[in-house]
Amino acid sequence: MNANIVLLPGDGIGPEVIRAAHRVLVAIGEKFGHAFQFNEQMIGGIAIDLFGDPLPEATVAACKASDAVLLGAVGGPKWDDPNAKTRPEAGLLRIRKELGLFANLRPIVTFPELLDSSPLKRSIIEGTDILFFRELTGGLYFGPSGCETLPDGQQRAYSTAVYTTSEVDRIVRMAANAARGRRKKLTMVDKANVLEASRLWRRVSAKIMQEEFPDLEYEVVLVDSMAMHLLSRPTSFDVVVTSNMFGDILTDEASMLPGSLGMLPSASIGSDGPGLYEPIHGSAPDIAGKGIANPLATILAAAMLLRHSLHLNAEAECIERAVRKVLAQGHRTADLVPRGTPSIGTDAMTDRVLDALHGSA
Ligand code: IPM
Ligand code: MG
Repeated sequence: MNANIVLLPGDGIGPEVIRAAHRVLVAIGEKFGHAFQFNEQMIGGIAIDLFGDPLPEATVAACKASDAVLLGAVGGPKWDDPNAKTRPEAGLLRIRKELGLFANLRPIVTFPELLDSSPLKRSIIEGTDILFFRELTGGLYFGPSGCETLPDGQQRAYSTAVYTTSEVDRIVRMAANAARGRRKKLTMVDKANVLEASRLWRRVSAKIMQEEFPDLEYEVVLVDSMAMHLLSRPTSFDVVVTSNMFGDILTDEASMLPGSLGMLPSASIGSDGPGLYEPIHGSAPDIAGKGIANPLATILAAAMLLRHSLHLNAEAECIERAVRKVLAQGHRTADLVPRGTPSIGTDAMTDRVLDALHGSA
């Protein structure tokens, strides 16, 4: 297969983890006889520094012309001024919108080898396997917003949660289809006791589930209870679907179940066109440049890219097996061990994954 993959390293540890995932993709290409072309482009703070724009036109054009996009992370203290004209995060929000990536898939799976790395009790988290579908191009993130000065000199700022029937319909349908191929349970999370937009979510999803997915177990949970249930009974969830803002918050919370943010990949996909794959973690400016970042989330994001955008299932599984193997062998980056315990760096961890891929470990 020929495939054109855009790499967006971004800021902080982004370039380090993208380099790691790139090495793994090259190895997979060689092992399975695929010609992957890589095209590196700018996004985030580095693009603001160089072009005054967190998402330069050349980046958008390259992404649109690609088969898939692999992103590191954006942002950092350098660009945090609340009065700045633009922010690195704006680049990420715009590329999601430009590519029509309305569904953000965030699998939360505990690795047996890492059960003791989680701050939560093994008895609660063991067996957790949740697939979040976070709506990604609507809601509070993209509704009307602004800031105005009132006659008395105060400022008044607002952001609005807006959803249309079709925006809810397409993500609920996608999540329900995924549940059908898994443990056949869908949980829809909202705040319908307060928010009008949530009441639309509730009506639209109830109708779809009743008419088209009667074979699935369907439940609705309010977002505040969900925050609690995720910590008390995570194994009772299979597929979870929710709006942009709730999904942002709940998936960061859920990322603590497997122990480290450094292990979790995510996929953002639309109805057609290239998908965008990235680790859930951010740019981690505190450890950037030190060579100690955990590359596994980005390597697993590369596996999701192969599976979802290029339909290369065997290749994706090969990467996932290699990652499990290095964990079983006891290799750990600093984020996965208690402070003071020996660990290996980004490059060494990537070398171990490559060894496992080649069957030489
Ligand atoms: C995420 C991030 C982004 C978001 C930020 C960086 C804009 O937190 O992907 O979860 O809020 O969507
Ligand atoms: Mg987030």
